[in-house]
Amino acid sequence: MKFFIDTANLDQIREAKDLGILDGVTTNPSLMAKEGITGTNNVMKHYKAICDIVEGDVSAEVISTDFKGMIEEGQRLMDIAQNIVVKVPMIKDGVKAIAWFTEHEIPTNCTLVFSAGQAILAAKAGATYLSPFIGRIDDMNWDGMELIKQIAEIYGIQGYDTQILAASIRTPLHIVQAAQAGADVVTCPLSAILGLLKHPLTDIGLQQFLADHEKAKAKSN
Ligand code: E4P
Repeated sequence: MKFFIDTANLDQIREAKDLGILDGVTTNPSLMAKEGITGTNNVMKHYKAICDIVEGDVSAEVISTDFKGMIEEGQRLMDIAQNIVVKVPMIKDGVKAIAWFTEHEIPTNCTLVFSAGQAILAAKAGATYLSPFIGRIDDMNWDGMELIKQIAEIYGIQGYDTQILAASIRTPLHIVQAAQAGADVVTCPLSAILGLLKHPLTDIGLQQFLADHEKAKAKSN
C-alpha cells in the first residue's frame, strides 16, 4: 500500500519524506486555503514547490465544475510538473472530464466519492485513483471502511485498474483498517502516519534494553 500525505504544508511534506516512506501528496482547495495560499499564480507556485520536494504523484484539484473549465485547468496543472495528477470531483462533468483525460493519457484522481456506484463510474471513465472519504462517512455515523471493502471487492471482480486511495483518514487505526480492507493507497495527515509508530511496550522495552546495556557496561569496567 502506498502512503500519501494529505496536506499543502511544505514542512509536513518534508518531514514525511524524511521518514523515507512517502509515495505522494494529495491536496484540496481547503488545504491550500489553510496554508494561506490564494490566487491562481500562488496556487500554481505552491504546487511547483510541492512537486520539487516529492518525486511521487501530487494531486492538484480543479476548481472548475464544468467540462470545458476542468479540461483547461487540468492542462494548465499538467504543465507544472511531470508528477501532477489532476484531481476531479465526482460530478457529471467530472466523469466526462476524467474520460477525456484518460483518452489523453493524463492521470486523474476522482475525489469526493461516497458510494460504490460512484466508484464504478470513475473506474469506467478510467480514473487513475479513486478517493472515497472514510472519515466524512464515519462522521455521518456510517462505516467508511465498509465502502473501501465493497469497492475493493467490485474492482477485483471486474478487473478495474483504478487504484483505491482511502482519503479523509483521521487516525492510525484508519490506516491499518484501510490496508486490511484492500486500499491501494492511503492519504493521511502527518499525525496519523506518526501515530503508527506509537506503542507503550516499544518504549518500555527500549528503556529496559538500554538500561541493561548500561548495567553490563558498568560491570565490565
Ligand atoms: C482527499 O484527497 C482529501 O483531500 C482529504 O482526505 C479530505 O479529508 P478531510 O475529510 O479530513 O477534510
